Amino acid sequence: MSIRLLVALITIIVFLEETTAAATYNVKSFGAKPNGRTDSTKPLMSAWSAACGSSKPATIFVPKGRYVVGGLRFRGPCKNRAITIRIDGTLMAPSNYGVLGDADYWLLFHGVDGVTIQGGTLDAQGAGLWACKSSNSKNCPSGATSLAISNSNNVVVNGLSSLNSQMFHIVVNGCRNVRMVGVNVVAPWDSPNTDGIHVQLSTGVTILNSKLSTGDDCVSVGPGATNLWIENVACGPGHGISIGSLGKDLKEAGVQNVTVKRVTFKGTQNGLRIKSWARPSSGFVNGVLFQNAIMTDVQNPIVIDQNYCPGSINCPDQVSGVKISNVKYEDIHGTSATKVAVKFDCSKKSPCRGITMQDVNLSFKNQLLSASAYCVNAGGKASGVIKPTSCL
Ligand SMILES: *[C@@H]1O[C@H](CO)[C@@H](O)[C@H](O)[C@H]1NC(C)=O
Ligand SMILES: *[C@@H]1O[C@H](CO)[C@@H](O)[C@H](O)[C@H]1NC(C)=O
Repeated sequence: MSIRLLVALITIIVFLEETTAAATYNVKSFGAKPNGRTDSTKPLMSAWSAACGSSKPATIFVPKGRYVVGGLRFRGPCKNRAITIRIDGTLMAPSNYGVLGDADYWLLFHGVDGVTIQGGTLDAQGAGLWACKSSNSKNCPSGATSLAISNSNNVVVNGLSSLNSQMFHIVVNGCRNVRMVGVNVVAPWDSPNTDGIHVQLSTGVTILNSKLSTGDDCVSVGPGATNLWIENVACGPGHGISIGSLGKDLKEAGVQNVTVKRVTFKGTQNGLRIKSWARPSSGFVNGVLFQNAIMTDVQNPIVIDQNYCPGSINCPDQVSGVKISNVKYEDIHGTSATKVAVKFDCSKKSPCRGITMQDVNLSFKNQLLSASAYCVNAGGKASGVIKPTSCL
């Protein structure tokens, strides 16, 4: 090979490296300290500024260790659409819950496009705030959601663990195409308002291969969630997978095209739930498939409750305006902790339409009594094995 050819080749290789190789920003080189004490908020934000300002793909690397960080604001738009945040370590919220308690969010991604969060543990240290709340003190802040992704597109969360959030663990709001895979949520069964993953006003959200153990809903689905896919999720303890509460507002976006398949519930308050306030609303739920669920000792395995009115405030004597239609339950089996294993308590004003049940076999765990089903204002059909006997 001639020298000139060699030089040309090397030039091409260097050019390719510069244009395609990701820039890597190690948070330690920005001053982050993995010692579980030093506040590393600023170094992480500086690393984000660098990655977001990079015109080529960028990786933020958080090495092993424990980093104390306050509110982190990852705001777009960025100069590139391929930022990976690789977290080998643990991010810890300040142990004083007052620091973040009124901040709404601990980690917030807002207006980003093309971000992957790879690995990592978020330890929000929520126990202090829960104790404050359970002491009935009026001076407790409401608490921060650990990870919020808002007004963003094309986000991947892969292999993240979230421990002991103050409020919700993860919220997806106003997004398009968000994939959450291998998420692990852990909080005690009695921790207040610690929903695992909440999705609203978003389309194309996928939750796969995840384990959610918490004190409130494992997954909660709010108004305006469409094309949502939940598969291979284990829930418990927790309040189940819940579409709702919906219909709190008069004018509200509907929930459409939700698939929930291959899910297990262990000792949860609910299994598959749809819930709406007993108030007038333009909200609706249309097109839900619940397929292949295993219930173990679940208090309300299958439930539609359109008479939600906690404390009977602002809704007594009202009925829900939320229209629920085309909901299919297929291959659902296991045990109910209460006698009523199936409950469809729908709105008098807008009865549930097109409820389909196929191969549902739920037994009351107290074998002496058989489970029962309860229907009000619910229409649809049943086929295959149906236990308890259908009331549709
Ligand atoms: C329903 O949502 C899934 C993703 O969850 C999507 O693949 C499918 O195309 C959607 N169906 C319709 C009719 O929009
Ligand atoms: C329903 O489930 C019970 C408990 O698992 C089982 O014993 C029974 O055979 C099932 N019934 C049908 C018809 O599949």
